[in-house]
Amino acid sequence: MKDKKIELNFISAHFSELEAEDKALVVNAKNAFKTAYAPYSGFLVGSSILLENGEMVNGSNQENVAYPSGLCAERVAMFYVGAQYPDIRIKTIAVTVFSENFEVTDVISPCGACRQVMAEYEDKQKQSIKVILHSPSDQVLIANNVTDLLPFMFKSPHLKKH
Ligand code: THU
Repeated sequence: MKDKKIELNFISAHFSELEAEDKALVVNAKNAFKTAYAPYSGFLVGSSILLENGEMVNGSNQENVAYPSGLCAERVAMFYVGAQYPDIRIKTIAVTVFSENFEVTDVISPCGACRQVMAEYEDKQKQSIKVILHSPSDQVLIANNVTDLLPFMFKSPHLKKH
């Protein structure tokens, strides 16, 4: 059998190398973690979404004493956009983290559930969503689409009736 390679592309960079629009979004995400409600983990996550109309929408993680009832910063922002701007496409999402309890040495990496949600909105709008993952030391990892973060995702055609 001849191997068929499937490649995923990520760009590793420093915050200072980002273009102005992406820098502004990361700065917004850094402001967003200040609204995190994370008394249980002490892990404050901020997200910011840039819409095609130029508006930016922020999210932060919202925890609950019934732990699974809480929600990650990415989905807080994504669902807000889904509800308030259903017809406006998402260009980019930036995510960052701050913690006094944990030593965060790497970029924040979205959980599987958030990747699934981002991937479905990408599929729905038929246009790539850029994902910028940011670390407290100003390192960034960029994926030009969500599919690279969640290859072989579960999609609605899998539910198609005959
Ligand atoms: N969290 C996020 O908000 N986004 C991520 O990408 C990873 C984890 C939150 C969930 C929980 O409130 C806390 O971080 C610790 O897991």
